[in-house]
Amino acid sequence: MKKLVIYGSKKMKGEQYVQGSKNASLPIIVSTILTKGKNVLKRCPNLNDTVNTCKILTMLGCETKRHKDCLTIDTKNLYGFEISKHLMNTMRSSIIFLGAILARCKEAIVYLPGGCAIGKRPIDFHISALEKMGAQIKISGDKLHCKVKDKSLKGATIFLSFPSVGATENIILAAVTAKGTTKIINAAIEPEIEDLCCFLNKCGAKIKMFKTQKQTIVIEGVSSLTPCEYEIMPDRIVASTILCAAAATHGEVLLKSINKNHISHVLEVLSSMGCYIKTYDDNKIFLKSTENLKAVKQIKTMPHPGFPTDLQPIVMALSCLCEGTTVFIETIFENRFQHVNELKKFGAVVEVKDRVAVTKGVPFLHAANVYASDLRAGAALIVAACAAEGISKIYNVPYIDRGYEKVEEQFFKLGANIFRK
Ligand code: EPZ
Repeated sequence: MKKLVIYGSKKMKGEQYVQGSKNASLPIIVSTILTKGKNVLKRCPNLNDTVNTCKILTMLGCETKRHKDCLTIDTKNLYGFEISKHLMNTMRSSIIFLGAILARCKEAIVYLPGGCAIGKRPIDFHISALEKMGAQIKISGDKLHCKVKDKSLKGATIFLSFPSVGATENIILAAVTAKGTTKIINAAIEPEIEDLCCFLNKCGAKIKMFKTQKQTIVIEGVSSLTPCEYEIMPDRIVASTILCAAAATHGEVLLKSINKNHISHVLEVLSSMGCYIKTYDDNKIFLKSTENLKAVKQIKTMPHPGFPTDLQPIVMALSCLCEGTTVFIETIFENRFQHVNELKKFGAVVEVKDRVAVTKGVPFLHAANVYASDLRAGAALIVAACAAEGISKIYNVPYIDRGYEKVEEQFFKLGANIFRK
């Protein structure tokens, strides 16, 4: 198995066009099932997760073709409604095929999803919502056999006790061609969900998002959707990772084509650490780090518009090099501190109790051989290794490949001495 070898403590310097968003592209690729014909998705990242999502589409009878970052999906001949256990286990987002397949085929056979081990990650919200919309779901072991009781799924009012991203996406996919109107109250309103709604509305869906009124999404069922051409939003977590790595190596980077509103939290954190940040109207962002980074007091992860949980491991790696202490409170996932023990191998000082971790900055990190435990933990290790003195090795690279396109090329282009060996 290949590893990443990083010759650290080299200032990053360069400019980068930000790849398309993994967490927007996955539900959008799945949602093409709701159309009958050829969709063209631009700026679609080429990742382990998008490759596996396309494998599932092919298993169902669709055709996918990739040319650079443009993915063409033809769903005309879709005939299947069963997804293999193996492919379901490759990622968490496989579960959102359920809503789309039920909407199109009125029957679905899937298995419990896989995904990063950052928590139990149940699917009870998904199941209860789809049942409310007229799905009959039989669970035996990890297999789910689902049928639509009537001719089609029907609209319903669904209150989510937690604004689950995946459950919101599943409900939207089930609702766009359901009979009647669906209202999701306390819905997730992450930018990736907004991008999914933009794509579906471009295909003829009728979705409205009310961010202030109890975070409600209203979907008026339509009879059919038309395939379209769409450009996926930039990946806000990848953009933030690059900014944090540049900050950690006291470098400077220019990011092109990134929506500053999507990364306002990390920009706030980086500027309070002492970095110089300039945002431009043409979606460029410039960061210049400083030799003396100052710790921010507290970072508490929350559903959007709060601080994104996916950024917690990455900002923690940077915080280990900031003078002072930072308290991290992880409110979304119960097991999202697996990167801490690996960061300690670099000489980081981090104490963990339940869902709270406290970092105490050190002037330098030293090289280490570390193991990625999940996607964003792996990204955090890259940030630490780029800053550390000496040659570090990062194993379990496939976790990182789930979300970062050719990660070593992206970072090498920005001045990091990083190789896949
Ligand atoms: C999505 O996961 C993202 N994945 C995650 O990004 C992200 O961390 C997460 O949303 C939160 O923003 C994709 O978009 C593919 P949730 P998801 O449902 O949908 C509980 C990355 O690194 N819950 O919002 O699985 C759940 O256990 C990944 O790109 C239930 O209890 O997240 C968790 O504690 C990691 N029952 C909380 O809600 C349910 O039915 C948030 O989960 C569903 C969720």
